[in-house]
Amino acid sequence: MKELKKIALTGIKPTGDLHIGNYFGAIKPALRLATEYDARYFIADYHALNTVKDPKALATHVREVAAGWLAAGLNPEEVIFYRQSAVPETFELTTILMAFTSKGLMNRAHAYKAAVQENLQNQEDPDAGVNMGLFTYPVLMAADILLFNPDVVPVGKDQVQHVEMAQDIAQGLNFNYKDAVFKIPQAAVQEEVAVVPGLDGRKMSKSYGNVIPLFGPEKQLHKLIMRIVTNSQGVEEPKDPETSQIYLLYKLFASEAEQEALAKQYRNGGMGWGEAKEELFRVVNRELAPLRERFNAIMADRDALDAILAQGAAKARPLAEATLRRLRRTIGIIGNP
Ligand code: ADP
Ligand code: TRP
Repeated sequence: MKELKKIALTGIKPTGDLHIGNYFGAIKPALRLATEYDARYFIADYHALNTVKDPKALATHVREVAAGWLAAGLNPEEVIFYRQSAVPETFELTTILMAFTSKGLMNRAHAYKAAVQENLQNQEDPDAGVNMGLFTYPVLMAADILLFNPDVVPVGKDQVQHVEMAQDIAQGLNFNYKDAVFKIPQAAVQEEVAVVPGLDGRKMSKSYGNVIPLFGPEKQLHKLIMRIVTNSQGVEEPKDPETSQIYLLYKLFASEAEQEALAKQYRNGGMGWGEAKEELFRVVNRELAPLRERFNAIMADRDALDAILAQGAAKARPLAEATLRRLRRTIGIIGNP
């Protein structure tokens, strides 16, 4: 009974290479969810424009993120998979939602506040480098979401505030028209993989330059793993696995038995960081090698990839059009198709 399934929706911004944090924090959980929900997953290319102003880079990132989802196992027959820019109804809905979004709400958004804070620290104008795309980011994201009436929005912790803003905006609009125009979507956060650590121990993030790319060549993977920052404990010293980046990353890729075996070696002493890194490389490459191969094959057939995205947009648009037709009537913009 496909009609009765609940809807899950999420997007990824194509602003750089996908990394292991994106894989465990966003892609894998979303694909697991897609077995249970009717999924709509998209590439948030207009969100990326706020920061990526080089056209070649933007086009490449879009293709790479699309190929990344497919290589990780997204089935475009099951999931409606599209580019945000190919669903122009998103932008009409954004305009409508603007009228229901207080400026104060945007002032409170974490990303904007962080940019202002940084400017103040550097004794710059508080809004230096802040474009309106960044300031109104949560409205565009609310439109992405509300356009498809999802029940759940799988996101990382950092995005929960944005989903809550989408709820606020939807509730304000529903209240005004005394009608349940929009379903109120819920954020779904994967607690068990809350934060994947990067090479330097901070959260793995493009903005920190501490990432392990998902699809880089094997040699690069090895080199990056060897670069993970460790303390100065000697080979013979017993080590605490739970405070070691190497071990925390290992847990994401290794079987239970492998995890136990490595933890034991840590605690017994006699194992240096170099050896632990080699073991980490072995399990990471075991999982990523087939993924990398699929990714490269998909990237090599540009037409096929574009066709998959076009087919996704063709499925998404009638749903988006239906939402807008209904909404235009509700708000009194009538006489449009
Ligand atoms: P980045 O921090 O590298 O710019 P994005 O903000 O583009 O990554 O994140 C895309 C998705 O991947 C989001 O859902 C985010 O929560 C998730 N994600 C990013 N980094 C991590 C991480 N280190 N651990 C877990 N999830 C992550
Ligand atoms: N803002 C999200 C991020 O930076 C990406 C995104 C855009 C998104 N629109 C969305 C996520 C709608 C979920 C739903 O990761």
